[in-house]
Amino acid sequence: MKKPAGGAGPRALKTRIKKKRGLKNSSRRWLERHLNDPYVHRAKAEGFRSRAAFKLIEIDERHKLLKPGLRVIDLGAAPGGWSQVAARITGSTDENPTIVAIDYLDMDPVPGTVFLRKDFLDSDAPDMLMEALGGAPDLVLSDMAAPTTGHRRTDHIRTMHLCEVAADFAVRVLKPGGHFLAKTFQGGTENELLDMLKKSFASVHHLKPPASRDESVELYLLAKGFKGREARGEEEES
Ligand SMILES: C[S@@+](CC[C@H](N)C(=O)[O-])C[C@H]1O[C@@H](n2cnc3c(N)ncnc32)[C@H](O)[C@@H]1O
Repeated sequence: MKKPAGGAGPRALKTRIKKKRGLKNSSRRWLERHLNDPYVHRAKAEGFRSRAAFKLIEIDERHKLLKPGLRVIDLGAAPGGWSQVAARITGSTDENPTIVAIDYLDMDPVPGTVFLRKDFLDSDAPDMLMEALGGAPDLVLSDMAAPTTGHRRTDHIRTMHLCEVAADFAVRVLKPGGHFLAKTFQGGTENELLDMLKKSFASVHHLKPPASRDESVELYLLAKGFKGREARGEEEES
């Protein structure tokens, strides 16, 4: 999918924030970028809670991860854009939910999604997720990002740690044939993690969906076709 055109129609009239409004330059630039972002307008028009929803939509259009009836775990889910996309495409309902989402920030209920307000790094989080899902997931998603400290290297290390813990969780719980999609950073994926994923999955790629801002160092890691724990030399869970 191409980036939505920002140059046509009334949206082409760029919104500018007056300097006198007492905002710091960096905040003014952020606000201007937000107000002029075509994905922000699309998210509002299509009922998605975040522009991030389009990253998953674009990845899914290309790589066909989501299908009706699949069980999905959404790590770092708030405010809920990815859960909305996953629930819509899988057809998950409140009566028979197949999506379980976790975040330490609260989020409004997403139809068809069980939400756990919890830190994924807590030792009991994996068991709670699995209990709520009631069976092995077909897909583990992680859009987790550590809160920014302003120190780029520290932010990278923290978010990479989240990606590693998510990958470790995915290979412990996924159904054979399942997929893992996680946020990472350019140049950030450790070789050890890549090697582990390459051994465990049929294919491993880095992706930059059009909805991910060009100036952002964010990338996504997609591991498709989980080979199963037996193939990894571990005992298969029932
Ligand atoms: C980029 S946002 C996710 C956006 C979401 N995919 C959407 O479409 O709306 C990243 C989220 O990761 C969450 N997060 C970061 N570390 C976490 C952790 N240890 N446990 C649970 N959630 C975490 C943050 O609270 C934040 O809400």
